[in-house]
Amino acid sequence: MSGKSTTIFIGSDHAGFALKTAIVADLQAKGLTVEDMGTHSLESCDYPEAAHKVCEAVLANDARGILICGTGIGMSIAANRHKGIRAATCTHEFHVRATRAHNNANVLCLGERVTAAGLAMDLVKLFMETPYEGGRHARRVALIEKPFE
Ligand code: RB5
Repeated sequence: MSGKSTTIFIGSDHAGFALKTAIVADLQAKGLTVEDMGTHSLESCDYPEAAHKVCEAVLANDARGILICGTGIGMSIAANRHKGIRAATCTHEFHVRATRAHNNANVLCLGERVTAAGLAMDLVKLFMETPYEGGRHARRVALIEKPFE
């Protein structure tokens, strides 16, 4: 796994809480260190709050993050406001392989209302295991951060 920290930072809103709970248990059972940044119940809450907390931790620790809401889309929109965060909503193994290898994605976004738990756990495993290819992709990833004129 690239990045300096092996801690995985994870967060959700209420619509992603059940899937987050299942993923945290799965990662811990595999011996990985997970920091659960909330939410901690099914009570309705606002997805950008978890997105911002997880992204700050990912950036501060040069780590990877996982964000889960109903669709995965709100989380990715909020997460991608952070300079240095490359968050991708994925529903398929090919999404995950490509966004790790080509985009060096550091945050995986999932939708509990879209992706079943078994597939979601496979996507998380792939996200943690797939290396960034660099090479021609490095120029493109650098251009993402280029300021607009
Ligand atoms: C919550 O109802 C839902 O809007 C949220 O979880 C997320 O899917 C937003 O993108």
